[in-house]
Amino acid sequence: AAFSTVEKQKELIEIANSIVKDGKGILASDEGIPVIGARLKGINVENTPESRQKFRHMMYRAEGIGKYLGGVILEKETFAQKDSEGNRVCKPLLDAGIKVGVKADLGWMLMPGSMGEMTTQGLDNLHERCAAWKKEGASFVKWRCPLKIQNGGLTPSDLAIGQAAEISGRYAAISQAEGLVPIVEPDVMLDGDHDIELCKKITEKVLMTTFAALQRHNVLVEGILLKTNMVTPGAKGPKVDAKTIAAKSVEAYRRTVPAAMPGIVFLSGGQSPTDATENLNEMNKIEGNPWKLSFSYSRAIQGPVLEAWQGKNEEPAQKALIKRCMLNSLAAQGKYAG
Ligand code: 13P
Repeated sequence: AAFSTVEKQKELIEIANSIVKDGKGILASDEGIPVIGARLKGINVENTPESRQKFRHMMYRAEGIGKYLGGVILEKETFAQKDSEGNRVCKPLLDAGIKVGVKADLGWMLMPGSMGEMTTQGLDNLHERCAAWKKEGASFVKWRCPLKIQNGGLTPSDLAIGQAAEISGRYAAISQAEGLVPIVEPDVMLDGDHDIELCKKITEKVLMTTFAALQRHNVLVEGILLKTNMVTPGAKGPKVDAKTIAAKSVEAYRRTVPAAMPGIVFLSGGQSPTDATENLNEMNKIEGNPWKLSFSYSRAIQGPVLEAWQGKNEEPAQKALIKRCMLNSLAAQGKYAG
């Protein structure tokens, strides 16, 4: 960020590194209202502001999560929400020294002129929203650009990849200017029946294009985190083992992700909780990586939590949360024993 002061740059670098230090990772709890609604419906809980608050507040109050989590991503509704006593729902996180982040994008829309592909919206007024979140205690933001492998790799098209990279660059520059660490999230989705080689080729292209755009926008790479997919076969493609996923993934990142970037935090993308932990662990068993490799899971953490909670059982749900966070933290250090 050529336009920012040395102090501002130092603060961004400090935030980004603190989120991934000592095996820490991120809990993604920023599902949009329809997505969290579908998850709550799965346990017969109605999708109201109150039930969303109850579920998320329960997770944020879990004793000891600060040991495993450096950050939590919130939906803007939750970031602004207060409990019946007037305390902010994110207060337990801030009290535990966990960095609070907000999902800054405003979802996706069909991109006319593309082959049925999506683009991410939310750049208008982003700087104002970022400035307000910063004032209210946020340390970072996230912005997801989903890209789908279809038609044997014909899509994601160069248009969709280029567009995703460009808006990621704009978003990252704006959030850094407002003092927030941007989590840049190009996501080559798990959907499809492709093999791991096609995922690897497309992931490398997407990451290379993304970092070129960050460079054009003068983004300080030391002050961001990359959130992205692991290199895997499509959900319906030919299966491979965790060691293969780890080797292919690490090779793809070494080819495309600057060594100056502090950490890659993975989305779980539909992997089972144990697969997500095991794959992360295998990657961390490979020596010599310049960046931290950690987690930013939603489904792979919250799946077992929702199941234990059922709208009422706080203690078992918090136990399930701590368990997944602890195991993923071990995996972020290559110390998960299965
Ligand atoms: P999943 O881990 O469920 O893929 O969600 C992570 C996320 O925040 C996607 O943007």
